[in-house]
Amino acid sequence: MTRRADIGAAVIGSGFIGTVHIEALRRIGVRVVGLLESSREFGAARAAELGLPASYGSLAELLADDAVQVVHVTSPNALHHSQVKEILAAGRHVICEKPLAMTSAESAELVALAASSGLVNAVNFNLRFYPLNQHVAGVVAEGGLGDVRLVTGHYFQDWLLFDTDWNWRLEKDRGGALRAVGDIGSHWLDLVGFLTGRRIEAVMAELTTFIPVRQRPAGPVLTFSTERATETVAVAIDTEDVATILLRFEGGARGSVAISQLSPGRKNSLAYQIDGAAAAAAWDSEQPEQLWIGHRDRPNELLLRNPALMNAAGSAAARLPGGHVEGFADTFGAAFTAVYADVIAGAPSAGHPYASFADGHEEMLIGDAVLESSRLGRWTEVARSGIAVANKRRESLEGPSR
Ligand SMILES: NC(=O)c1ccc[n+]([C@@H]2O[C@H](COP(=O)([O-])OP(=O)(O)OC[C@H]3O[C@@H](n4cnc5c(N)ncnc54)[C@H](O)[C@@H]3O)[C@@H](O)[C@H]2O)c1
Repeated sequence: MTRRADIGAAVIGSGFIGTVHIEALRRIGVRVVGLLESSREFGAARAAELGLPASYGSLAELLADDAVQVVHVTSPNALHHSQVKEILAAGRHVICEKPLAMTSAESAELVALAASSGLVNAVNFNLRFYPLNQHVAGVVAEGGLGDVRLVTGHYFQDWLLFDTDWNWRLEKDRGGALRAVGDIGSHWLDLVGFLTGRRIEAVMAELTTFIPVRQRPAGPVLTFSTERATETVAVAIDTEDVATILLRFEGGARGSVAISQLSPGRKNSLAYQIDGAAAAAAWDSEQPEQLWIGHRDRPNELLLRNPALMNAAGSAAARLPGGHVEGFADTFGAAFTAVYADVIAGAPSAGHPYASFADGHEEMLIGDAVLESSRLGRWTEVARSGIAVANKRRESLEGPSR
């Protein structure tokens, strides 16, 4: 029987998140056989630093390596589409970082190519794999909160607070037309869809750019770097620092989310509260070991992550006993464990817990609706094929949804 140790993975990009991928793969026993970087020289230097056996000069060279069965794409957003296409065409399974592509037309193409290839395809919405989030998804599915009515929250960071903060994400042609929403909001939107099992039907969005001109350093910058460059160039910014979005879910639930990359003191706070007819659940990624459970007629509860006290999905995502703190990097191990189970089986399984290309495409469609809503200043439906027609038909039969 194939084991994870029999599988070879290659990684594209070794920046902030590529390094986390490599560490997580090693922890779950997958062999990382090589790295592709932005140049042959940089790739060779990074491979030596990270103790990797090989580096490649091009994607074609990577794909010519028979030891590679899975490719992790952790390069900047604008490269995902072309790299993933080439990887699928070469018959390799793919785990791509979010966002899957720059536009929904590109992501739709990748969904179709992945489906016809039969290969395992995943988008790294890793936040699903905090053990307490896995637990909550099960609780909601079993009706533990009652009918879901209201889903609220935020995703706040502060690393782009000053006009001297710079990263490739600020450049539309490298990051995408949506910045805060595409970069971090997409995690929140994917997560609440996963937790509630409900898709977003329509959005009313406002996008705001508080810093219209930024100082780009003359040299390169690392993600989350706080160093200040001495030589800079003034650059006009045309992507949002902040988004405020009202949400309507299929089935009638309502929601709202605020997304910001300029919230002083909030380093990486994704928070949600799900209010059901019987109970509520709330969680914040800055205190990821605690789940608040709200009640009306008895004292509220605080569940500390503990494999002995969570449901099967929660326990499966946990590595350590309760009280031995787990965090961000551990979610990658849990996510990859689920993806590599399918890699071993040779194809995507039904109902797998990780996000697929279809889920990555879903985030692109929601992004389209957010952009359109903010431009038009009105509610906009998520344009999945057939959904607008189906909803109109339902409304004509049942009246407007709650
Ligand atoms: N899932 C998460 O929690 C999470 C967190 C951070 C970033 N990301 C995603 O991961 C991706 C990378 O983000 P990052 O923060 O690590 O960026 P980064 O700038 O730190 O790293 C990008 C890496 O890609 C390399 N690269 C650039 N051009 C390349 C090319 N042509 N071929 C190969 N490699 C190339 C760079 O040299 C660098 O090492 C983005 O798509 C981002 O949205 C996801």
